[in-house]
Amino acid sequence: MDIIYMDNNATTRIDPRVLDAMMPYLTEFYGNASSMHSFGGSVGRVIAEAREKVANLIHAEPGEIIFTSCGTESDSTAIYAAIRSNPNKKHLITSRVEHPAVKNLYEYLAKTGYHITWVPVDKEGTLDMEYLRQHLSDDTALVSIMWANNESGVIFPIAEIAELLRGKGIVFHTDAVQAVGKIPVDVRQVGVDMLSMSGHKFHGPKGLGVLYVRKGTKFSPFLIGGHQERGRRGGTENAASIVGLGRAGELAQGDLEAINTRVRALRDRLEQGLLKAIPNALLNGKKDQRLPNTTNISFEYVEGEAILLMMDAFGICASSGSACTSGSLEPSHVMRAMGVPFTAAHGSIRFSLSTYNTEKEVDFVIEHMPPIIERLRLMSPFWKKGVCNLQ
Ligand SMILES: Cc1ncc(COP(=O)(O)O)c(C=O)c1O
Repeated sequence: MDIIYMDNNATTRIDPRVLDAMMPYLTEFYGNASSMHSFGGSVGRVIAEAREKVANLIHAEPGEIIFTSCGTESDSTAIYAAIRSNPNKKHLITSRVEHPAVKNLYEYLAKTGYHITWVPVDKEGTLDMEYLRQHLSDDTALVSIMWANNESGVIFPIAEIAELLRGKGIVFHTDAVQAVGKIPVDVRQVGVDMLSMSGHKFHGPKGLGVLYVRKGTKFSPFLIGGHQERGRRGGTENAASIVGLGRAGELAQGDLEAINTRVRALRDRLEQGLLKAIPNALLNGKKDQRLPNTTNISFEYVEGEAILLMMDAFGICASSGSACTSGSLEPSHVMRAMGVPFTAAHGSIRFSLSTYNTEKEVDFVIEHMPPIIERLRLMSPFWKKGVCNLQ
């Protein structure tokens, strides 16, 4: 059975050109970049080249790029660096729809004496800028707001937030894990202090992240150890993955146009096809303010995980916002924050496309989804109630 992969916000397929670039550093060039001998030194040189390519992708300087092990490590590093460099400030701001990499760390920090402001979003998933503005104070150490949401695809006004914070002595971090490689990201233009990204979201290797730290930003390392990354992140460099990320960054720059046109057209075809073919299907997320590859659709009165299992039988891979925890099915915090009604939040499915998807695949999904939803609705007590309630 062919796999129809529409779960690219979870992870992407490694580009074969990225793998080719990596292979020599997993095999014959195994030296340590920190060694005195030229065998190791040659690895140091390719790491420097990769750093330059990654910097180019987001319009940064190579010295502002720190390689980490993943997006989660980049987020933790940024958040801890911000609070350690402002030890007297005890107020932190974030949004209600962050990825667990930020959300769960903030929840932990709340237990250790920090006061947290969770900025709400409206029903289309857009950020309440007025709420953010009103909650800034002299005690605020950090604002961490994601560039684009992983579930709804909604893009936040990062440049506007940076402008709002300018000159206030508040560190601004953005989790751009879902934005980089899908839309243009220019750190110079927006003026953020720190930015997280992750290689496996744009056809690079898994297990490699990046933290951009603007020159002049106060910083303290999260992983304290060797002098790697100019003392900002200890640990022998993952040379092969770093080289791969450099290549992926280069390729992503070239693909931005295709994502904005071809992938966007595929996403729109899928979205319109599903909304037209399936009754009681609702779009989650502001239509014209989303990542071009993402659509999140709620199929009312059915449960996301059941939908995914039935899609899986046809080889279709996507994601649902609900998670089965201790016997109860909780809709995602993102859908809850958007106020998606209970009957719809459980049946939300995220389709996230890439340049590897085709029109034939989109049409296959449009053809196979309606009978899946219909079958599940026939079994759903909510659907019967829903139909009665609809009158
Ligand atoms: C918005 C966002 N932040 C952070 C992460 C975590 O990245 P990683 O898997 O590289 O730790 C993800 C992964 O899904 C994400 O979507």
